[in-house]
Amino acid sequence: MKVDVLLGLQWGDEGKGKIVDFLTPNYNVIARFQGGPNAGHTLEFNNIKHVLHTIPSGIFHDNTENLIGNGVVIDPIILISEIEKAKAIGTDIFKTLLISKKAHLILPTHRLLDAANENKLGKNKIGSTLKGIGPCYTDKVARKGLRVGDILSNDFIKKFNIIIKSHKQQLDFLEFEYDLESSIQDWLNAIDKIRMMKIVDGEWFINHAITNNKKILAEGAQGSLLDIDYGSYPFVTSSNTISAGVCTGLGIAPNKTGNILGIFKAYCTRVGSGPFPTELFDADGENLRTEGNEFGSTTGRPRRCGWLDLVALKYSIMINGVSELYMMKTDVLDSFQKIKVATAYIIDGKRHTEMPYELSQNIEPEYVEFKAWNTDTSKFSKFSELPVELLQYIKFIEEETGVPIKIVSVGPNRNQTIISDNF
Ligand code: GDP
Ligand code: IMO
Ligand code: MG
Repeated sequence: MKVDVLLGLQWGDEGKGKIVDFLTPNYNVIARFQGGPNAGHTLEFNNIKHVLHTIPSGIFHDNTENLIGNGVVIDPIILISEIEKAKAIGTDIFKTLLISKKAHLILPTHRLLDAANENKLGKNKIGSTLKGIGPCYTDKVARKGLRVGDILSNDFIKKFNIIIKSHKQQLDFLEFEYDLESSIQDWLNAIDKIRMMKIVDGEWFINHAITNNKKILAEGAQGSLLDIDYGSYPFVTSSNTISAGVCTGLGIAPNKTGNILGIFKAYCTRVGSGPFPTELFDADGENLRTEGNEFGSTTGRPRRCGWLDLVALKYSIMINGVSELYMMKTDVLDSFQKIKVATAYIIDGKRHTEMPYELSQNIEPEYVEFKAWNTDTSKFSKFSELPVELLQYIKFIEEETGVPIKIVSVGPNRNQTIISDNF
């Protein structure tokens, strides 16, 4: 069967982890295809709150295989700690987790280089999660990276030492002070554990699964507006977060992708630097942050908050070919009296409904205002129970985007997920 794709359509943290976990019973395989431990995907069920960084969000269901695809960059220390944390709550994923040989490894020096690069940028810094993502993908593209498959070869340590030496030279050039010895040992210990796991030719695994009619869901990380090509460059991550990334990140042909499930918050957030046209600096912004508990799952940083931006959402829908929309964190707007949605940007007096080349600072969003529902939606379980104002909000977004909203999420818990009649 074709591979369905679930993607965040904004600047990340849309609630991908929650929805992948909710959808997993419908799938045999969940596969991550890009990004790395910069991601923080939160799942909540049975009073357990769990954050995953590298492991696909299908792990809490038996009988589902979870693949870390070749497009992912893996920090061995973080991966092992994730596996151990899952084990501590009774989920042993040793049997169900597969790792692609062609996935690249984040070295301890990649993290240091991330910090050194950000230091050099000063106030222009990207606001990276400092997990070594950018430097690792840089080495991949420069054809100098270390891959998971390399850990099985005899000259692995030799390759490792050559890269570390080159990174040390770069760190010295950047005048960055560091202490490396203990992290190298921890890293090598983690590699020893990974060597005992299921290391596979990911592209063969996934294509055999397709041929054998397995149901597969590709789980995106970050969001489309953080995509290296189509995001708010340079304030982006270093991978293709969009649906096209699934092909290179898993090794499947474009005609093997199926439904493209786009997920977005009923408002907008961004963590890290970069433009954000609908960002709020007033009480509404503060309410979104408090009600939505908008603090980073990976770094704990407060997330910047603002109104839903339909110019950006429509752009993400176009770039990804989204076939159905899932609206997340709707309950966060429950206490609001009015809600706004940006439908155009005014730039130098001119109205734009299409995403411009750059999201410059002088964008004035044009808003449509809605009377809010002012009702606790967190207990609702059916579309028909939703307040009329919320149904109008949904209808407006559907009409503007031309894509049906098939899930409305009204709380962090797996159960707080409302599906439409035509789901
Ligand atoms: P991801 O990176 O896209 O998986 O999203 P994160 O896990 O980083 O951030 C989403 C946050 O919102 C997490 O704390 C989730 O538990 C929480 N969450 C997800 N869906 C909902 C929802 O519908 N309502 C509320 N209130 N919280 C939600
Ligand atoms: P999930 O998968 C939100 C942001 C960082 C920074 C920029 C570059 O949980 O949605 P990087 O560490 O990649 O060099 O950071 O991208 N960023 C995210 N923001 N959610 C994420 O992942 C993110 N991953 C990276 O804050 O602005
Ligand atoms: Mg997240």
